[in-house]
Amino acid sequence: MVKPKVLVTRRWPAAVEAQLSESFDTVLNTTDKPLCAADFKAALSSYDAVLPTVTDVIGAPALELERAQTKIIANYGVGYSHIDIGAVNHLGITVTNTPDVLSECTADLAMTLLLMAARRAGEGEREIREGRWTGWRPTHLVGTKVSGKTLGIVGYGRIGQEMARRAHHGFGMKILVQNRSKVAPEVLAECNATQVENIEALLPECDFVSLHCPGGAENRHLINAQRLNLMRPGAFLINTARGEVIDELALSQALWFETIGGAALDVFDGEPRINPALLDCDRLVMLPHLGSATREAREAMGFRVIDNLRDFFEGREPRDRVN
Ligand code: DGY
Repeated sequence: MVKPKVLVTRRWPAAVEAQLSESFDTVLNTTDKPLCAADFKAALSSYDAVLPTVTDVIGAPALELERAQTKIIANYGVGYSHIDIGAVNHLGITVTNTPDVLSECTADLAMTLLLMAARRAGEGEREIREGRWTGWRPTHLVGTKVSGKTLGIVGYGRIGQEMARRAHHGFGMKILVQNRSKVAPEVLAECNATQVENIEALLPECDFVSLHCPGGAENRHLINAQRLNLMRPGAFLINTARGEVIDELALSQALWFETIGGAALDVFDGEPRINPALLDCDRLVMLPHLGSATREAREAMGFRVIDNLRDFFEGREPRDRVN
């Protein structure tokens, strides 16, 4: 049987690239640089499968085509708001993602950010590296206690639930949940969580708010100036979801005027560009989109893509089809 022709848009862990190459006629983008719109248009006309990541915006090029050679876009990652599902649907392309395998590691990073923001860890690190530390004193970089506080989780999917487990079982936090659909009582019960009606009801009740909802147009600027104003003075906002979920200018103003206590971001609107307004905010921790960046998760994500490709090309329904 002729092996399906597969394009991998970025470098993957070596073990996954090796397994992929055994089963498929694989072309790797050895430059490891993001492809441009023209590259995608060409790829959709010549490969049976395209395997993108969050850095690959797939929309306009697909729309311009009348037909595609590509039958499946198997995304390396759980979030797929960079793929215009409407645009690829008209070409009959199946789209899959990689849920589950990165939930624990992403929640670990969200918890890391929460702790860093609460305990002013980024500020402390900068102080040492810049030679500004003058020694221990009772009033130095005093942060906020985490244990026993209230955490609001926006989006109670797999990652949101993992975050709740860490916060509730590890730190005795009280969990409030906002989710677009009703969460099953037994799922809430695991962390003694309470689901609230909407985000307006959640924000004023929380010491910490962690975002775990999808990105894309539907959630663009879900956290805007008005909603930031609903947060408690001294509360913290954590984002490991997608950058566009927060109005970053409004966040920078909330941090400047100290209407909230701090924030921690792993994702940015238009990343890797960083809104200059954020760079001046001291009470802000920033990481370069590291949510799933562990060896274990990144390998598991690749193997999950391969599972989806095997399902598809062997005539089964792909396990993680999203369209
Ligand atoms: C994901 O899986 O969505 C991560 O953010 C990387 O894309």
